[in-house]
Amino acid sequence: MGAIEQEYIEKHAGSARLYERAGKVLPSGVTHDSRFMRPFPLYARRAAGSRKWDVDGNEHVDYVVGHGALLLGHSFPGVTEAAMAQLPLGTHYGASQEKEVEWAEEVVRLVPSAEVVRFTSSGTEATLMALRLARTYSGKPAILKFDRHFHGWHDYVAASSKYGGVAPAGVPQGTLESVVIAPVALDAVREVLDRRDDVGAIIVEAAGASSGTLPVPRGFLRELRALTTERGIVMIMDEVVTGFRWAPGGVQELEGVTPDLTTLAKVLAGGLPGGAVAGKREVMEHLQFPPPGSKAEKVGHPGTFNANPLSAAAGVACLREIADGEHQKRASAHAAQLRAGMNGVLCELGVPGVVYGQSSEFRILLTGTVPEAADYDPRNLSWDLLAAGNPSERSRLLHLAMASRGVHLFGDGGMASSVHTDEDLAVALEAWRGSIVALRDEAVL
Ligand SMILES: Cc1ncc(COP(=O)(O)O)c(C=O)c1O
Repeated sequence: MGAIEQEYIEKHAGSARLYERAGKVLPSGVTHDSRFMRPFPLYARRAAGSRKWDVDGNEHVDYVVGHGALLLGHSFPGVTEAAMAQLPLGTHYGASQEKEVEWAEEVVRLVPSAEVVRFTSSGTEATLMALRLARTYSGKPAILKFDRHFHGWHDYVAASSKYGGVAPAGVPQGTLESVVIAPVALDAVREVLDRRDDVGAIIVEAAGASSGTLPVPRGFLRELRALTTERGIVMIMDEVVTGFRWAPGGVQELEGVTPDLTTLAKVLAGGLPGGAVAGKREVMEHLQFPPPGSKAEKVGHPGTFNANPLSAAAGVACLREIADGEHQKRASAHAAQLRAGMNGVLCELGVPGVVYGQSSEFRILLTGTVPEAADYDPRNLSWDLLAAGNPSERSRLLHLAMASRGVHLFGDGGMASSVHTDEDLAVALEAWRGSIVALRDEAVL
């Protein structure tokens, strides 16, 4: 075992003990695939603002920020107060309530494509519902999704070239027959639409595959909008990550592209569970109950925790807080400084790689050429290089080394909140330098 893993084990004995217990009752000891980590993941006990503390008392600058949900950082006062005020009033009325109306009004106010909203409990449910609505509206059974674009874990969006064209475990071949996977290229989309007349919807991750790890080319969303309009195809923009984070109105506001349907989650509910489909009334009205006597069929949609009062209260407070765009600017400025600082360290140490990203995210690629100390536009990097990503052992050891130095990454990168500080930046850059040196010493760079 190398020094990086040894140090991680020594500093995190409490996490190791919990992982041992977890392995007896939870598959692989975790509750989300991305939290799995060898030799064991971190167990957190408490969080506040931009920091969190693990069960061994180590303090971490948190760049996971609730898998992107916490644009305002942990326990932002206005959001926490709204949730605390709601708790004694009840967490489930089994009835409609004012907060869900307010929540939908905020979504409609902020998101350009949102005329009508339906809440779900997660982003996965939101994309599932958007696809069902699109199929109903178009009358066509098939959908087109882009290779490597992530839309949650339900069957229709599980396929990707990662699986070499084979059905992902447990997904029926029959389901996959109604899903076409295309590369992110307009010609390829056109070719599919020329070949198949059963495609009624196209779903796209607004910032590019895996929250912008593989960014879409400049102008692609606008061209896709033009093509889908021309062919009468429902365009679904998945803004589960980018919604309210890239800008109050998401990527669609920044790019001036209005999809037919938008899927939302994460920031939407201010750190509590929640998702939504929003969009054109004409498409969304398939959720509407038909008038008495009509034989029209509606799209069914139950869901015990849809727009539960706690999520709705936190969501309303969060969306009102982020509406003027100031939080997004602060988070993006922090991420830009971080990317530039991390590239500066790579440049100084002569280590091949690049830290890139859009908005308030950063992505680490420790391969390729030695960077200039600059902020990178990922659209200038080759798709193949980005798609290959980091060798898994390098990625694992980077994660462990950074955690031992007080920085918690989210995959090969992370996201900033609006409450990350200059002190956090200094800790992160120091940890980065130390981790890169440690990786080099261990000959994994
Ligand atoms: C773009 C995108 N869509 C959908 C989802 C699924 O959301 P959830 O994890 O809330 O089910 C995610 C989750 O990270 C996502 O990044």
